[in-house]
Amino acid sequence: FEGAGRWVPRGAGLDGLRHAAQDCQGCDLYENATQTVFSSGSASARVVLIGEQPGDQEDRQGAPFVGPAGKLLDKALVEAGIDRSDAYVTNAVKHFRFKQEGPGKRRIHQTPDAAQMTACRPWLAAELHIIDPDVIVLLGATAAKALLGPSFRVTRQRGQLIPRPPIDDETSRQNACYVATVHPSAVLRADDRDAAYAGLVSDLKVAAEVLG
Ligand code: URA
Ligand code: SF4
Repeated sequence: FEGAGRWVPRGAGLDGLRHAAQDCQGCDLYENATQTVFSSGSASARVVLIGEQPGDQEDRQGAPFVGPAGKLLDKALVEAGIDRSDAYVTNAVKHFRFKQEGPGKRRIHQTPDAAQMTACRPWLAAELHIIDPDVIVLLGATAAKALLGPSFRVTRQRGQLIPRPPIDDETSRQNACYVATVHPSAVLRADDRDAAYAGLVSDLKVAAEVLG
């Protein structure tokens, strides 16, 4: 597998990308997943939220963050004062990676590996190039490592505004920046769910302040 590069149409808009991504075979994940889950939101969005990869519900429905983690994220966005119509929501990896013990068994989420993350990056780079947002929210370690490198630690650097280095051939703007936070799924699994949720909202408010 050679990565998504050759499937990404040059000079396309978001609709063109979304359409072309349906045929991507840039890594092995297309083989077992139901479909490519691209993104939701408009090209004029000022904030981009990046998750890890689609989950079980997203894989079936073809849209990002529509399952339990998405419900929690929606609620947290409202609480942080971020308008969903101002937000573009996508994932670092566009196909669901899972393991399944047998037919009809529950599909268990597996974190994408480094090769799959690298393979899928041309899609993300193309999305960010088109949207050119003011702030990018990295939801969890996978998104944070995909964009800020493997040594980035969400636990240490969450909730801080981080100047945005250019990724791939993308041109970076002066005022664009990143904010990393925990993944909404981690909030759902946390022992102290209220505290974890409050932390997510507080980090999202840092992004909301950039939007003004
Ligand atoms: N988790 C993610 O990271 N992305 C989704 O779209 C859904 C769950
Ligand atoms: Fe292509 Fe990304 Fe899907 Fe791999 S995960 S097949 S690179 S869209």
